[in-house]
Amino acid sequence: MCGIVGYIGNNQAAPVILDGLARLEYRGYDSAGMAVFDGEKLNIVKAAGRLKILEEMTHGGSALKGCVGIGHTRWATHGIPNEENAHPHFNENETIAVVHNGIIENYIFLRNMLQKKGYQFLSETDTEAVVHLLDYYYKGNPLEAIRKVLHRVEGSYALGVIFAEHPDQLFAVRKDSPLIVGQDENGCYIASDVPAILKYTRKVTYVDNQEIVRLRGDHMHFYSIDEEEIQKESVMIEWDANAAEKGGYEHFMLKEMYEQPKAMADTLLPRIKGQDVVIEELNMTDEELASIRKIYIVACGSAYHAGVTGKYVLEGLSRISVEVDLASEFRYRNPVMEEGAMVIVISQSGETADTLAALRESKKRGFRVLGIVNVVGSSIAREADSVLYTWAGPEIAVATTKAYSTQLMALYLLALKFAKVKKTVTDQEFPGLLEDLKKLPDQIELLLSNKNPIQRFANRYIGAKDIFFIGRGIDYAISLEASLKLKEISYIHSEAYAAGELKHGTISLIEEGTLVSAVVTQPELYAKTISNIVEVKARGAFVLAVTNEGNFEIEKAADYVIYIPETNPYFSNSLAIIPLQLFGYYVAVGKGCDVDKPRNLAKSVTVE
Ligand code: F6R
Repeated sequence: MCGIVGYIGNNQAAPVILDGLARLEYRGYDSAGMAVFDGEKLNIVKAAGRLKILEEMTHGGSALKGCVGIGHTRWATHGIPNEENAHPHFNENETIAVVHNGIIENYIFLRNMLQKKGYQFLSETDTEAVVHLLDYYYKGNPLEAIRKVLHRVEGSYALGVIFAEHPDQLFAVRKDSPLIVGQDENGCYIASDVPAILKYTRKVTYVDNQEIVRLRGDHMHFYSIDEEEIQKESVMIEWDANAAEKGGYEHFMLKEMYEQPKAMADTLLPRIKGQDVVIEELNMTDEELASIRKIYIVACGSAYHAGVTGKYVLEGLSRISVEVDLASEFRYRNPVMEEGAMVIVISQSGETADTLAALRESKKRGFRVLGIVNVVGSSIAREADSVLYTWAGPEIAVATTKAYSTQLMALYLLALKFAKVKKTVTDQEFPGLLEDLKKLPDQIELLLSNKNPIQRFANRYIGAKDIFFIGRGIDYAISLEASLKLKEISYIHSEAYAAGELKHGTISLIEEGTLVSAVVTQPELYAKTISNIVEVKARGAFVLAVTNEGNFEIEKAADYVIYIPETNPYFSNSLAIIPLQLFGYYVAVGKGCDVDKPRNLAKSVTVE
């Protein structure tokens, strides 16, 4: 979603802003702009399309002089991506400039009210209502105007604001959209995410809901919505800027796929003590854990797919009943929830609006919420009762790979923990399961090292119209993720189906040569899925099978087979997804798609 960068200090602001916005490109955007105060007035430059255009228009920022400014990459919600709708927005006299991430839900009401008072709107955006409202309330005191505006706007926002009459100050404020601030010896920074300012400082402060920050060149002050000054703790970011660079890989997505073995080990190893799984972050005794009879998993997109796998693994290993919900559905369906249940929300970014809303709904109803989150200090991490961090490091490519893998690992750990306290796995079986988990990083490494045949195979399908993924049980969950990976980055239509469900409609879509990828890793279901392979082949499909080493029988039915190393069937998702991620990646590369920044998508979905 939109990216915000702001700077005030001794240096020229525009190059700092452009550099920061470039580091937020992964969030997804379709236009960009910035406003810099040159000592006399605010100069605003905006452009539809890539950030490169803005860079060219301003000669890398050197054409916009001034030491205080705000910049923005916009992911269109209200109004098409054009120059008028791009941020910053400004008041009639161009003395106030605003950048915004989020959605102002009552903007129509505000717009009508302001139009009646004579304000002219130049764009179709919800944001423009904010800048005119600021103008309306501004009587010389910026903080007071901001405070009054916050009392009037509804929805989610992270805002950066400059008042031309107060060029020694820059303002930042947020509610339900991410925003951080930081400082070094050259000035103060605001940004939507850490990579934008990591080059300057590792010490960042997370702005909390409805807090206002006044930044000057050499210090920052935090205020509540009632203008009371508050003290804030900053945190040290442990990872360095290199983690957010491509490091020689052609794309972030490829780099992140190759980081999966380490990310998996980092998520797993600190939580294994001897022959036990120890998840201190749960802050729950074994008795409390053993008393849980119901789990609700709520998430979006790939995190939801991890949750679908989690259901099979948790139910299978610990015999706890699990329901998995899409967060966007859960939050509005008034679910009937069992007393004493645990809610698990899963999110890489920790900022996904629907997942955050599901968390709040669950807490409001009195349920304990565990967050499985990657971004430290994110909204979900801060609001959940306990947090199980996935240690994947920063994920930049829009399509998730390593964060998804670590979400699976977190769910395996939970399943084993529950199995242990509920005694649903015997003491003899438990060490074997732990050993299988420990082997996963090396096994993933092995699969990644065998990428060339997959690239060659993928090249045959760059012209495909439709590709189907089928599987049963956990293999169905893997198919959901494999299909999403392919379609989101290659723009090839793809569907995932529970293999037994095909003949209830979808099989009519199979034509001569249609690629069907069958995931076949659950030994007790081999025969069943092979029957489904035979069915699609009889209709002309070409079948790629992903199966376990040793299941050579499959070669009689499938046309092309990829084998994965031996593991416990509960963990096979972590291995089977690797060649399928590579397949999606190489199809997209072969088609010349913008793999890291697929069209229309945003990395962190902060609107519902
Ligand atoms: C797909 C993808 C998305 C995210 C979804 C949830 O590759 O990355 O489907 O999984 O938008 O995002 P988080 O995990 O940040 O809540």
